[in-house]
Amino acid sequence: MTDGRPSRGVLITLEGPDGSGKTAHAEHLRAAIAATGREAVLVREPGGTPAGERIRAILMDRDESSVRLTQRADALLFMAARAQLVERVVRPALERGAVVVSDRYLDSTLAYQGFGGRLGVEELLPVGRFATGGLRPDLTVLFDVPVEVGLARKTAAETTRFEAHFDRAYHERVRAGYLALAAADPDRWIVVDATAPEADVLEAARAAVLGFLAGGTRRA
Ligand code: TYD
Repeated sequence: MTDGRPSRGVLITLEGPDGSGKTAHAEHLRAAIAATGREAVLVREPGGTPAGERIRAILMDRDESSVRLTQRADALLFMAARAQLVERVVRPALERGAVVVSDRYLDSTLAYQGFGGRLGVEELLPVGRFATGGLRPDLTVLFDVPVEVGLARKTAAETTRFEAHFDRAYHERVRAGYLALAAADPDRWIVVDATAPEADVLEAARAAVLGFLAGGTRRA
């Protein structure tokens, strides 16, 4: 245990801007991992626990006037939902030796609140370490997509306040932030071109994940 992590399991996170399609691939990836004989657990953020789903309802409220979250409160709610998920679900699964696939994780807060909302990664990182108890992903797949392509994929019914109230420049900062995070830590991140046909995107992600799992256990 180098960073407070159980040593047997593997944590794989899926990241990407809105409309990157990663959620559509998440269950396929979980099933592909399960087919190798390992226990595979899929979780999503924000949410994944009873408390986390209630926090999600506040965060995803489209009626901003009733909530009026400040940027900092916003970031802390994402972190609170994450803390709950990590301790109640992710760590126990890792302790059993499972592979956990998380649809979004700490890097979402860094990209959205840190870069998009300009709270800054340096300020958020210590809060993230506190929330997760230092649990870092072994592998992160970034489903990269240009802003106009991603936003065009979202139907009106699907839009949260993130698409409805944040402008184009915000989403550009999110995408650039993700690419910067990936470039800064190439050992952990794999960038998949999510503008490719869906089957090709899934295959690229699947190959990356299964290749990583076949190559051994997590890095310390
Ligand atoms: P969701 O409907 O789950 O969409 P997606 O399939 O794209 O993940 O909405 C999650 C939204 O919350 C998405 O716009 C990104 C945003 N978000 C943050 O801003 N910060 C975070 O820490 C997380 C986890 C999500």
